[in-house]
Amino acid sequence: MLKKEHNELLTQTGPGTPMGDLFRRYWMPALLAEELPENDCPPVRIKLLSERLLAFRDTQGRYGLVDEFCAHRGVSLWFGRNENCGLRCPYHGWKYDVTGQCTEVPSEPSGSEFSKRIKLKSYPLIERGGVLWTYMGSPDKQPAPPEWEFANVPLTQTISTKRLQECNWLQALEGGIDSSHVSWLHRADLNTDPLFNNNRGNQYNLGDMRPVFEVVESPGGLYIGARRNAENGNYYWRITQWVMPNFTMIPPRGGHSLHGHFWVPIDDENCWTWSYEYHPTRPLTVEEVKAVREGKGIHAPADPKTFRPFANKDNDYLMDRAAQKAGKTFSGVIGFGMQDSSLQESMGPIVDRTKENLVGTDNGIIMMRYRLLIAVKALTDKGIAPPGIDAVHQKIRSAAVILPPDQPFKEAAKEAFIAKPEVAPASI
Ligand code: FES
Ligand SMILES: [Fe+2]
Repeated sequence: MLKKEHNELLTQTGPGTPMGDLFRRYWMPALLAEELPENDCPPVRIKLLSERLLAFRDTQGRYGLVDEFCAHRGVSLWFGRNENCGLRCPYHGWKYDVTGQCTEVPSEPSGSEFSKRIKLKSYPLIERGGVLWTYMGSPDKQPAPPEWEFANVPLTQTISTKRLQECNWLQALEGGIDSSHVSWLHRADLNTDPLFNNNRGNQYNLGDMRPVFEVVESPGGLYIGARRNAENGNYYWRITQWVMPNFTMIPPRGGHSLHGHFWVPIDDENCWTWSYEYHPTRPLTVEEVKAVREGKGIHAPADPKTFRPFANKDNDYLMDRAAQKAGKTFSGVIGFGMQDSSLQESMGPIVDRTKENLVGTDNGIIMMRYRLLIAVKALTDKGIAPPGIDAVHQKIRSAAVILPPDQPFKEAAKEAFIAKPEVAPASI
């Protein structure tokens, strides 16, 4: 359970809010690179952290993320003409470059300096791993570009998708670190989904429905360990990584690609669920890429323009009661991604955490909230930068390992938590 004021503190990320200030210390995924496929292509509207922005790519291939609205009289620049190294408002022709600087006010006399005094709010936008990242904080605190392994391997080894999720970012994240639900909600899919099937880990997952959770702090967030019984008294450990504030990495299975999420607030009642899929040491196979494109694994089939999933709350997520009854799916909804989203959205846009009854398997969630609250307070009161910004906090991996009962996973799997190029992930 969380006090009302803490629930509000953690779920509100608009400009000037404490949690909004915290989010504005990190690079966040903003768009897929394929949304701006070529120079002078149409601009894209994007809302992030409750700010309405416009992304565009100019004649020289430079990316810009600027205020959506023209400084003259507030027209949406989405209607603009993207030409000759700038975006021109179609109303009266004011023109802006990728930094938001106004470069032309055609109605002013020639030689006028007026346009120099006009600048739209703007944020940097850079490409890493097929994703366009932005940093929305103050320029003097801008960190080095993101170091996540999935964003820095060759493009043949990585693919990301995004989808709209119609609830607050925090309840989506809470689903991501709650690995106890996998044995229930996703049980019917573990052995059939092409990105999850055929590995020993699944058998341990399905064979022990009472996992024991052990959550310990990591440099950038938490290691969330879930322990299940394996052979000969040993334990099968699945260790999820959560890195502040909104990155998770799911423990791997067999030789499959690795995956995880970012949940990026759109506003307080919606978020972008980003899902990455990569392999540290080999290109993704044709089958893997096809499965991702079809919305298998943690991805979900979605409208390519709006990124709203085809199964959504307006059609009850295509609930199939017969499949639910027959055990083909546990909840009646198809696919890991929509199984998660449907239940998280069903809690309402911002769940009332004063009414929860948490149990032992919610320890990861409890500690995550606690770490966030501590970090927000340290940032607000003392200006202390939150964890998760340093490269060393980002060059990490999750792990799945079998350990003897007397070995604490934090020590025994220490090396497996570090992303080292050329080293295969620790996976069962
Ligand atoms: S509103 Fe954009 S130029 Fe007038
Ligand atoms: Fe899930």
